[in-house]
Amino acid sequence: MDVITLRRPFDAHVHLRDGVALETVVPHVARDFGRALVMPNLTPPVTTTDGALAYRDRILAQVPSGVDFEPLMALYLTDATTPEEIERAAATPGVVAVKLYPAGATTNSDAGVTSIERVADALVAMEEHGLLLLVHGEVTRDDVDVFDREARYLDEVLAPVVEKHARLKVVLEHVTTAQGVDFVKSARDGVAGTITAHHLLYHRNHLLAGRIRPHLYCLPILKAAPHREALIEAATSGSPRFFLGTDSAPHPRGAKECHEGCAGCYTSPTALALYAEVFEAAGALGRLDDFASGFATAFYGLDPIDGEVTLRREEWTVPATYALGAEELVPLRANETLTWRRAD
Ligand code: DOR
Ligand code: ZN
Repeated sequence: MDVITLRRPFDAHVHLRDGVALETVVPHVARDFGRALVMPNLTPPVTTTDGALAYRDRILAQVPSGVDFEPLMALYLTDATTPEEIERAAATPGVVAVKLYPAGATTNSDAGVTSIERVADALVAMEEHGLLLLVHGEVTRDDVDVFDREARYLDEVLAPVVEKHARLKVVLEHVTTAQGVDFVKSARDGVAGTITAHHLLYHRNHLLAGRIRPHLYCLPILKAAPHREALIEAATSGSPRFFLGTDSAPHPRGAKECHEGCAGCYTSPTALALYAEVFEAAGALGRLDDFASGFATAFYGLDPIDGEVTLRREEWTVPATYALGAEELVPLRANETLTWRRAD
């Protein structure tokens, strides 16, 4: 197969940032994706419906003319989020979810949830009003090894939440472990997981063996090779519980290549080609369309997206950098060759 045609995909987890970064990132995302679920971890975070709608307008202002792109918004859950704010969000078209960052888990998560008990009322309101819960599933305690943080979160926090709130729709974002895959597979209806391209392509040796590669540093961190195998199996299995969420997360070069570098891989311009590479290696190219377009659309109960995207087998070299305002943005696979290319 040398040509793949997909229904215009849905990136169910992406970081677009704000301000001048939107000028670069929004056109990249809107080129390949008809719809995206935009993460709210700005500084300050997007904690209100009004804030989400204003952010949505700033995003739409950067969509190139003639391109159809629908940003879907999520509120950033804090200990102070009220049931009234949840109800308002649920009644607002374009706001579909709430993102739970455990405080301290990742980039701009300081205002996140300090304990699940503190958001009990908000979770009840979400269940009642039909707003989805998107979870960064990692415990943050110092005594838990960074490679074990996802598995521990599932046992200690997420399993009880899923059981207690039987009608709450839950997405375990960026699944990175075999335990995460098993959790999603065996959960009740209404539980799904997103999988990034970078977690399908890399394991922790790629990040750490011999030398450190800061552009592969993301959170949750890359795990040992067998976990990657479990993710590939899940993504390519045809299960509607697993769908595309790139977690593409731009940081300026200087914030990645430094002492105390930030977590995040920038994949928006290359994501479809990267996923195609994984699905082809697994002999599952025929399942890419559902993974990239169909399953998330169904899980979120959305209308299908109009249009198609075609990828052609053609080698091309990923740019070394993109502009990010006055700074540089290094994409995943910078200067490397990809085998699938978007046909214009
Ligand atoms: O690698 C990551 N980058 N993981 C996250 O959870 C956040 C993201 C970001 O916003 O940079
Ligand atoms: Zn993310």
